[in-house]
Amino acid sequence: MSKMKLNLIAAVSENLGIGDCGALPWRLKKEMAYFTSLTTDTKDPSKKNAVIMGRVSWDCIPAKFRPLKDRVNIILTHNVDAIKKKISNEQNVEVAGSLDDALKMIEARNDVETTWVIGGSHIYKLGLEHPNCYRVYLTEIKRTFTCDTFFPVMDKSKFKCVDVEGVSSEKQVENGIEYYFKVYEKLPNVEEKRKVVESTNEKDKTKCC
Ligand SMILES: NC(=O)c1ccc[n+]([C@@H]2O[C@H](COP(=O)([O-])OP(=O)(O)OC[C@H]3O[C@@H](n4cnc5c(N)ncnc54)[C@H](OP(=O)(O)O)[C@@H]3O)[C@@H](O)[C@H]2O)c1
Repeated sequence: MSKMKLNLIAAVSENLGIGDCGALPWRLKKEMAYFTSLTTDTKDPSKKNAVIMGRVSWDCIPAKFRPLKDRVNIILTHNVDAIKKKISNEQNVEVAGSLDDALKMIEARNDVETTWVIGGSHIYKLGLEHPNCYRVYLTEIKRTFTCDTFFPVMDKSKFKCVDVEGVSSEKQVENGIEYYFKVYEKLPNVEEKRKVVESTNEKDKTKCC
């Protein structure tokens, strides 16, 4: 199974909204710059990051901004051949029929540093449920917006909030809208924790003997 870590990134309103009528319900330029920098910047200049998105989110990006620059764009769809045909002129865009197929494509390239799941609702759900889910970068917007698309229910007891270098913990304010950058890291699941404890106990027993 793939060992690639999945990072989700989303901006979410107080009522868990992420989109309305095929667009973001807010206009926050600095928040957008944060998204661009996190999903684009790499430590290794010879590498790129990959962004995985649902076909609807791809359609929602204005044509002049897609594919998202300097990133490997991967579109998830149930209609791989049709979407491949539609985007045949685009460079740095791949089409996958499942999240696991997308991970296989990324691993086959050897030039991807970090993998980002960038929405929308369906794809965040796949990312949260995937065993390789690592971190969720949530911009928590402290206001309610009219939305028709929502972030899936996230069981925060399975995550811990972490400080990450380069992610400000200060309150952000733009156009009178307050928001915070938060990073939630997935805790190892109970089964994994049990195995870790058992193997540590076994090692300790061996040491005693
Ligand atoms: N606030 C944020 O951070 C943020 C981020 C991203 C997007 N958005 C907003 O979210 C909205 C779009 O999101 P959405 O939830 O409607 O759609 P979406 O998740 O972007 O795309 C849904 C599509 O993904 C494909 N898909 C879903 N599950 C799949 C699976 N298991 N395997 C293969 N393909 C699969 C299907 O494409 P086919 O129909 O082609 O089969 C499906 O119709 C827009 O309003 C956008 O502005 C907000």
